[in-house]
Amino acid sequence: MTNYFKVNNPATGKLISEVRVNTLDEIQQALENGHDSFKKWSKVNAHERSRLLRKWSDKIQEQKEEIAEVMTLENGKPLSESLGEVDYATSYIDWYAEEAKRIYGRTIPAATETKRIIVSREPIGLVAAITPWNFPAAMMTRKAAPALAAGCTFIVKPAEDTPLTTIKLVELAHEVGIPKDAIQYVIGDGKEVGELFTSSEFVRKITFTGSTPVGKALIKNSADTVKHVTMELGGHAPLIIAEDADLDVVVNQTIISKFRNAGQTCVCANRIIVHENVIEEFSAKLAAEVMKLKVGNGLEKDTQIGPVINEKGYTKIVEQIQDAVDKGAEVLVGNEYDANKEKGYFFVYPTVLKNVNEDMKIMQEETFGPVAPLISFKEIEDAVEIANSTPYGLAAYFFTNDYKTGTYLHEHLQFGIVGWNDGAPSGAHVPFGGMKESGIGREGGLEGIEPYLETKYLSIGNL
Ligand code: SIN
Repeated sequence: MTNYFKVNNPATGKLISEVRVNTLDEIQQALENGHDSFKKWSKVNAHERSRLLRKWSDKIQEQKEEIAEVMTLENGKPLSESLGEVDYATSYIDWYAEEAKRIYGRTIPAATETKRIIVSREPIGLVAAITPWNFPAAMMTRKAAPALAAGCTFIVKPAEDTPLTTIKLVELAHEVGIPKDAIQYVIGDGKEVGELFTSSEFVRKITFTGSTPVGKALIKNSADTVKHVTMELGGHAPLIIAEDADLDVVVNQTIISKFRNAGQTCVCANRIIVHENVIEEFSAKLAAEVMKLKVGNGLEKDTQIGPVINEKGYTKIVEQIQDAVDKGAEVLVGNEYDANKEKGYFFVYPTVLKNVNEDMKIMQEETFGPVAPLISFKEIEDAVEIANSTPYGLAAYFFTNDYKTGTYLHEHLQFGIVGWNDGAPSGAHVPFGGMKESGIGREGGLEGIEPYLETKYLSIGNL
């Protein structure tokens, strides 16, 4: 029996497409094809791989508007953000098109005159990726581009909610001449495909962006075949506001960090930790700006906050807000909803909560929604303790113009990404990734190609 995933517009609940689910045999075959094509693709010279990646990026840019519209339709994010994400996605391809040509080896001085030692870097093999719905283009290219640049072949399973953007991007890769089996997509249930990927002898590496529990399961399942793993998992970012911070800058950067993609990013500020002497002024300023954010269908002009992705996401956000309110949080703005279970759309209005404490769920669990909880601190050491108190270590932000406070925070925050007076630190040129239970490995920048390479050394003797 042929199965289809229904892809619905989260802003209206309306069906936009039905995507055929691959059978398990088809997925096995795709893995075998990816494995076989590695022999050829890994031998394509680096300059040619680079040229093909550039062509892919240009082709995506040619169709930027069309791709952005598909993204907004399936994900709900405002069109301006989808256009921005297409640029973000191609920036990874552009970056790794260059890095393809810079995969250097080295020589090591031997311990005797009769030997020479050469270290070379080789692509790891077939890479299997599982990508999330919150950035359906950029999270795919952030993995595919370094994999292909390194000479690996690549297979991706996009999220069930947002497969259309990925399908389009893979088709464009084929159009520009990247071989069909060098980059493939498969459609299927997350758990089933995850098990096939992790147990397959053809796959040498798993790369995943998504929740920490799923990441842990993938790591465990990858152990039997000793696969390499890159895991970009959950976050619960603190944003610390010191007493001396420029509050207008902070409000602006907090809104960028917190409300991008309706708060559905792994790096968004989830716990706003404010010095007690400025919390009144800051919360009033923040609430005044948050009130102005326009909620609506992402295709409508001026929309700044789209719907949340689905009922599961919506329920979690509402429960966190309710739990906080029940335990004494004050709602400065928001705690309003426009949701229709029958029709299948779920909007959460941007919400600011004051008088939050660490016993509330919202301070312990990742939120993935447009909610900004504010908690106060007295001493900077207390702010750090609150910030480091969860198992997550992806992103953290702090605002201060005092270099001693800034240096202290930089050195004590246990996070892979730290923004100092900066609410938007992401980019293709930087090593994105988390500490603790937020992940393993880095994506982007110089570090982002490393996970796709093996190291081999040659020792020549008897010279
Ligand atoms: C994410 O939320 O997983 C990615 C966000 C980013 O790349 O900035």
